[in-house]
Amino acid sequence: MIRILTTNLSLLDNSQIEAYLTNNSLKVGVVGIGRIGLPTALCFANSGFETIGIDINAELVAMINSGDYPLKDEPGFDEIFENISSQKKLVATTDISKAIQECDIVLLSLPTPMNEKNIPDYTALLSVGKNLNKILSNGQIVIVESTVEPGFIENELLQTIEGPNHILKSGVDFHLAVCPETANPGEIMKDFKKLPRLVGSIDEKISSVVSQIYTHVFGVELISMPNCKTANAVKLTTNVFRDINIAFVNELAILFEKLGIDIYTVIEAAKRKYNFQPHFPGPGVGGPCLPVNSYQYLNSSKKVNGDFLKIVKDARKINENMPKHVVNLLIDALSESNTPLNNSTITILGISYKPNIHDAQIAPSEEVIKILIEKNAKIKIFDPYFTSQVFGLVPEKSIFDSLSGSDAVVIITGHKEFQNLDLKKFSRTMKNLVLVDCTGLVKPLDAKENGFIFRGIGRGDI
Ligand SMILES: NC(=O)c1ccc[n+]([C@@H]2O[C@H](COP(=O)([O-])OP(=O)(O)OC[C@H]3O[C@@H](n4cnc5c(N)ncnc54)[C@H](O)[C@@H]3O)[C@@H](O)[C@H]2O)c1
Repeated sequence: MIRILTTNLSLLDNSQIEAYLTNNSLKVGVVGIGRIGLPTALCFANSGFETIGIDINAELVAMINSGDYPLKDEPGFDEIFENISSQKKLVATTDISKAIQECDIVLLSLPTPMNEKNIPDYTALLSVGKNLNKILSNGQIVIVESTVEPGFIENELLQTIEGPNHILKSGVDFHLAVCPETANPGEIMKDFKKLPRLVGSIDEKISSVVSQIYTHVFGVELISMPNCKTANAVKLTTNVFRDINIAFVNELAILFEKLGIDIYTVIEAAKRKYNFQPHFPGPGVGGPCLPVNSYQYLNSSKKVNGDFLKIVKDARKINENMPKHVVNLLIDALSESNTPLNNSTITILGISYKPNIHDAQIAPSEEVIKILIEKNAKIKIFDPYFTSQVFGLVPEKSIFDSLSGSDAVVIITGHKEFQNLDLKKFSRTMKNLVLVDCTGLVKPLDAKENGFIFRGIGRGDI
């Protein structure tokens, strides 16, 4: 039997909405139940909402319905998943049309990647938008959690949902709002309960309804934005700020290697000044957010025929060049040990784009590996978060399996498992003692005392 939708929420006052929230009489659909959408759906279910997760990935849907869960690297996730799953409070489906017909609130947590030319790709949101045009009718609220560039909601998505000749009317047949997600992978469950959220909408009234719902579910501060594009601009600004600052320390790191200065000593001391925000160098900036968000802003600039944000362009170039720098450090260290890179065996420790999670999207490790293979090196990889094939390589079962017979080791990701590495044991296992550290976890002196030829990003004082 098809569920009858709750009254158009925009017509209710705060106390009436509160009654719906406390009586658990609203139904929510989360479209896209990946890294962000699934924990979000669980939080709604945990607050008493009838919740349905919608995804095109049939395998993922079957897995969730059978009580198994992805995101095993996300602390605190197992507990909430098992609790919700055992009480059957969340169901998953691939049938978007049937599911959405019954939902009062629809969250979109769809991927917003970029194509090989670094152009933002909003295909998933637009294809779901087309579907929504055929399904929405009764003033349901659609909330975009995905990260998009300013103006995308007001222009492309709104038009797509309304359809040709405005078959549906925003503010009448449906309401469109944004609430960009800002949680950090590896800390998502904690961040959900801690970080303030931004809310913007097409028609003003619905912002306060969305704020009331999110306060009920997450108990965090909701920051009201004048419109959707401003909310999306805030989200992009925070991430692009990081991309630019990491580019700055990456450039400093390369300079300090020449000047004989240690970047970590500089950052630690600079941190003592009240207005310095530390950022750390590394082999590049990856993941589904930072690099994409910089290109989203650059795309916004292109759309107004402007050549704004030159600093963002430069930051991208610098960060994208870091894998080459890592390979140069390796070649330099190998030549000191009279070992050519050609035909040598190189161990890569860490595949993920950031520590303590299983995620290789736009990971700098991929580019490092690609360059090394082009230069005819043999690659062995180890990452405690990866057991199956990644970038065409099968990970070794243990760190020491990966080091056995190796001519050099490159530490790419600062996983907690790589803290306090036993370099003495490394030296007994490897064929040739060359170590390149991109993470700052290895103390240059420790490496030297254990017989290694050492290079580290920004380690100029070796
Ligand atoms: N992962 C993060 O660190 C993070 C943090 C904050 C915000 N975000 C943003 O959140 C959004 C979602 O990111 P994510 O990391 O959860 O992505 P994800 O790839 O982990 O999950 C997206 C899910 O959407 C599904 N999907 C794709 N197309 C679909 C369609 N047409 N219909 C239904 N389902 C579809 C996929 O199968 C997948 O399960 C993105 O805009 C991202 O930028 C991500």
